[in-house]
Amino acid sequence: MSGGAIVQPQSKTAVAEERVVRYTFQERVIHWINGISYGYLLFTGLAIFTPYLAWMGTVMGGGGTIRYWHPWIGLVYMATIIQMQRMWRSDMVTTDADRQWSKNIEHYVKNEDDQMPPVGRFNHGQKQFFWVMFYCVFILLVTGIVMWIPERIPRSFHWVLPIMVFIHSAVALVTIAAFMIHVYMSIWVTPGSMKGMVEGTVSSAWAKTHHRLWWQRITGRKN
Ligand code: HEM
Repeated sequence: MSGGAIVQPQSKTAVAEERVVRYTFQERVIHWINGISYGYLLFTGLAIFTPYLAWMGTVMGGGGTIRYWHPWIGLVYMATIIQMQRMWRSDMVTTDADRQWSKNIEHYVKNEDDQMPPVGRFNHGQKQFFWVMFYCVFILLVTGIVMWIPERIPRSFHWVLPIMVFIHSAVALVTIAAFMIHVYMSIWVTPGSMKGMVEGTVSSAWAKTHHRLWWQRITGRKN
């Protein structure tokens, strides 16, 4: 660029960005205990699942250790997801606005956010993710308990065990797919949401763009 006039800033004062509370301290603590416990279950579960990934178990403390802790951490994971359901029950109900949002999913995929109908605190995809994780945990619990104490299964019912192993693994794979989408969407597709889950607040502009009905409700504004 050739040397031209230097543009001076118009004003020396800066306007602080307006921020709104997205998650309370309790919501964040529960979410992150849930996320960390899921991470542990993911690595140790895969290590138990296939010998190709057994090295993950070695890294996490060895076969015996992970086999001992996997079910206990599973209970922590389950307790936190139940707590999430108690905290966010009303926010996770599917509404007409969600149905409209889903009908326009094509725009969402094309990154045409301005053409998406407004949604509340969570969009339909976030709600579906939550319910998938919520219902899967109960199947994982029932099948997991059978695998936890196989010696209690009466001899004539031993055929049940491989079926439980199959269902437990298949359902775990469903949660892994959902989890990968969740992490990808939260970190890369919606910049700013991570700050909300770490620090508790998001910019007013973020809230208005992604969750306009929620933004209108909490700020009492229309525009
Ligand atoms: C450990 C990796 C994880 C990361 C990086 C992560 C990140 C995030 C972020 C940034 C948000 C805020 C999204 C927003 O405000 O719109 C969020 C919300 C949420 N997270 Fe996670 N999360 C993780 C694990 C999990 C797991 C294992 C669950 C299991 C249920 C979960 C369930 C939720 C739910 C239900 C919400 C609210 C709705 C939604 O955004 O989907 N998260 N997460």
